[in-house]
Parts: sequence; C-alpha cells; structure tokens
Amino acid sequence: MQIEMREQADKVIARCRYLAQFTEEPGQIKRTFLSPAMRECMQTVQGWMEAAGMRVVTDAAGNLRGQYPAAASPSICLGMGSHLDTVPNSGAFDGVLGVMMALALVEVLKNEKLPFAIELIAFSEEEGVRYSLPFIGSRAVVGRLDPALLDVQDARGISLGSAMMSFGLDPSRIGECLLGGDVAGFLEFHIEQGVVLESEQQSLGVVHAIAGQTRAEFTFTGLARHAGTTPMRLRHDAVAGAAEWVSEVERLALATPGLVATVGDLRTHPGTWNVVAGQLRASLDVRHGDDSIRHQAVDQLLAQAAAIANRRGLTVDSKMQMDQPAVVMDARLCGLATEAIRSTGISPLSMVSGAGHDAMIVAERVPTTMIFLRSPGGISHHPDESVRPQDVENALAAGLAFLRSFASYCAPLGSKEKNTPHA
Ligand code: HGY
Ligand code: MN
Ligand code: MN
Repeated sequence: MQIEMREQADKVIARCRYLAQFTEEPGQIKRTFLSPAMRECMQTVQGWMEAAGMRVVTDAAGNLRGQYPAAASPSICLGMGSHLDTVPNSGAFDGVLGVMMALALVEVLKNEKLPFAIELIAFSEEEGVRYSLPFIGSRAVVGRLDPALLDVQDARGISLGSAMMSFGLDPSRIGECLLGGDVAGFLEFHIEQGVVLESEQQSLGVVHAIAGQTRAEFTFTGLARHAGTTPMRLRHDAVAGAAEWVSEVERLALATPGLVATVGDLRTHPGTWNVVAGQLRASLDVRHGDDSIRHQAVDQLLAQAAAIANRRGLTVDSKMQMDQPAVVMDARLCGLATEAIRSTGISPLSMVSGAGHDAMIVAERVPTTMIFLRSPGGISHHPDESVRPQDVENALAAGLAFLRSFASYCAPLGSKEKNTPHA
C-alpha cells in the first residue's frame, strides 16, 4: 500500500501541474470563472472522475459534481472537493490540489463501495477574480447565490447570467445546485498558503476556524489636470490622496494583533504619465478571526478615507463587495480528521485559516472540516507555490483513514436530522 500511496501522491502532483496548462494568459496560470481555459480544465477533470467510476454533471453554477455511489442506497453522503479557478499569476496547487486529492481517494478505493456515497465537487469560482464575487460555486451549493448577482458585469461588460448562458448553463436552474439532504459532512484538502506548518516543521494541519473577510472597493475622485502646468498646492490628486490612505491601511493592520489588510489592486484614471489622476479605484481586503475587530477596522478605514479626501478636496465612495463572517469548523469532523491523521503516525497542527475557502461557505449547510498541507516557503498565489510529495502521501493516507472512520461517525446520523452542523 505504501508504494501505491507514493505513486498516487506523485499522480496528484503531476495532475495539478498538468492542469496548469489551462490558462487564459500564456506564461502564467490564470483560470477564471467559465472561461475557455476553465472549460478545458473541467473536461479533463471530468474524464478523470468518470474513469474513477463517478457519474459527473456540471451544475447551473458551473460546478463539476461527481457522484460515487454507496454500497447500498439510500445512504448518507460525504462531500469532498475544492475550486478549479485561480488568481492571476497563480501557483498550480491552490484549489486544484483539493480536487485532485478527493479524486485520488476515490481512485484508491478501486471501485470498493463504502457505507456512504461520495460527492466530489470541483467549484467553478472561489477567488472572485472575474466578477469580484468570491465563492460563486459554493454559494450556489448552499442556496445562497442571489439571483440579483446575475446582472453583475465583468470588465468586458458581460453579465454573470449571460456568461453562464454562453457556457451552456441555465441560470434559472441555480436552485437545483443545492447540496442534497443526504450530505452529512464535507472535507476540503487545501495547501495552507502560509508559513505556520513549515515553521512548526509539520506536514499536515486541521483547520478549526477560518478568518472572516471584508472585500470593498474605494473610489477616490479629484481633478484630472495637466502634470506640467498645475501647481502642487492647487492639485486635487486622487493618487496622492489614496496613497496617504493606503499607508493608513498598513499602519492600522500593523498596530492590530491578528489583523491583515491589503490593497492589492489600484486602477487610475486617466492613467497616464502627464496627467494628474482624476480618479483612483482601490481594492481593500481585511481579515481577522474575530468579526467585531474586523468590522471596527473597516469602520476606521472608512473614516480615514473620508477625512483624507475632505482635507485634499477629493470625494471618496466605497462599495462593500463582501462581508464574510469568520466560520468555525465542525468540532466532531475536526476530531475525525485529527484522529485520521494521527492514525498515520503524524500529529496534526490545529489551525485558523487566514485564507478563505469554499469550506467556509459549505459549512453553512453541512458539518465541514479542512486538512491543510504544508506550503514550502509559505508561498501561494504565486508561480513558486508548491507541495512536498511526502506531505501529499501523508494526506492521502489520512484521507483514507478519514473515509474508513466517517462511516462510524455517520452511524448515529442515520436516525438524527441530517445536515445539522454539529456545535
Ligand atoms: O483569498 C483567499 O483567501 C483565497 O485564496 N481565495
Ligand atoms: Mn486562493
Ligand atoms: Mn484556494
């Protein structure tokens, strides 16, 4: 079995690297919601899932859904999976690894049927790159994809709804994406994307909570003027005002334990060398394990933007894109994951995830947990992102142990109300 697990681990890594070819930008990995590159990636993954004995459909939100039947039905079901989309200039493992891990576990079963079914979900959109809307796929799966979002347009003016229809999806059937009532739990494997496991020299971690996040857009508006003839003291420079605010963002986060705040995307208008910028749009991403601290920080940054704009004769508008509460993972499933990892001889680290994951959305509907794999160098959202084969092998062995124990975990559920996340 050991040899096989190492071979399976090598295959998981090889497949992640193989799928990296499906990109919208030659020379980097960029795969966004319902793009042609995403379609090619989904077709390949669907082929692998079907070869593993799964019946595969694409749901109305573009999620790839693979059903692996139980030994007998009706039965409960274990959901597993992660996302196939990426950030621009991404690594090869963020999201994809979780899909390949779940696929590898089904393959290792070699058509053995378990007392429960497995649903493998490859989510269509987690990062929120194309529409600035994270978690489109998983929100559809928990019944929280607001139909009003279908009118949101991407940078080319293509609405979410028309993108779905061009892809061959029917937005009127989004309600059918809902996770079945038979799904009694969800497990997501993911790279940690941070430095904790590596600094602790640990292979695997169990996520007991995921930090909440606020995503907002701030638009600073001043007066576009000639760069050569406009005296400095007569300027209302949107870039200079926003720059002062961005320094405040960093200062607040440095001063607040556990808070991270990022301005990652700046777009100026008219955006040329010899014009004082009339407008600047800035993205803001604020995260913390405690929602009240995060909300206080966002309120402070709103007030500071207004004060800076006022002093500089600018205006500033803000648009909340997302206010995602921190999510606690299911204690019993985390216990199951911990025991499964321990049964392989590894002691897992219990962790809070600073990164958001589909698991935080799925957890709204079913008991959910995550297993993290070490990120060498803590590098992620970057082409140098990687995983260690040994950690993938450890995670597969733990995943198999998790499958073996999930049946006993579910036994009491047979009588109880299903889909009730445990306290
Ligand atoms: O941004 C995040 O937290 C994740 O990578 N989507
Ligand atoms: Mn990511
Ligand atoms: Mn991810």
